[in-house]
Amino acid sequence: MAKSKPAAKRGTAKRSKREAATNAPQAGSAPAIDIGLSTAERRKIADGLSRFLADAYTLYLRTHSFHWNVTGPMFNTLHLMFETQYTEQWTALDLVAERIRALGFNAPGSYGEFERLTSIADEPGPADTTDWREMVRQLTVGNEAVCRTARQVLKTAEGASDDPTVDLMTQRLQVHEKNAWMLRSLLM
Ligand SMILES: [Fe+2]
Repeated sequence: MAKSKPAAKRGTAKRSKREAATNAPQAGSAPAIDIGLSTAERRKIADGLSRFLADAYTLYLRTHSFHWNVTGPMFNTLHLMFETQYTEQWTALDLVAERIRALGFNAPGSYGEFERLTSIADEPGPADTTDWREMVRQLTVGNEAVCRTARQVLKTAEGASDDPTVDLMTQRLQVHEKNAWMLRSLLM
């Protein structure tokens, strides 16, 4: 007569079957992300894009606040120029955040996170300075800071053959380099 298995072993076998059933893909559940980039690559690119988003948001907010608060003989020119820039920047923020989501990570969205992630130095805002030349200087260096971060993300994305992120960062570079040129020209 065959010996029956010890009770403990029988229990283990039952648990393993249950665990296997639990780990099996469930109908209708979200599959793991498999877009041809490793998790480490996706994370590194998403981290870079989060820093870019923090820079871009910080610059957007500064540009919009200068649109509100600019004064002086350049009012009409700058009020309209800043509006053109912040409107374009606002639309682009969404594309960057959604690229982070497509890579499988959460996009930063609080002032605390943006402050921690941004490379743009905090400078006196319009409550402390309404001098239009100072506003234009801040926006010039702000656009350049965004360009430097974009170049870092571009390099990381190129290394992973992440063409959508390369494309997005290339487009953002074109815009922010042009903004920096136009703003700097006002101070010459
Ligand atoms: Fe306005």
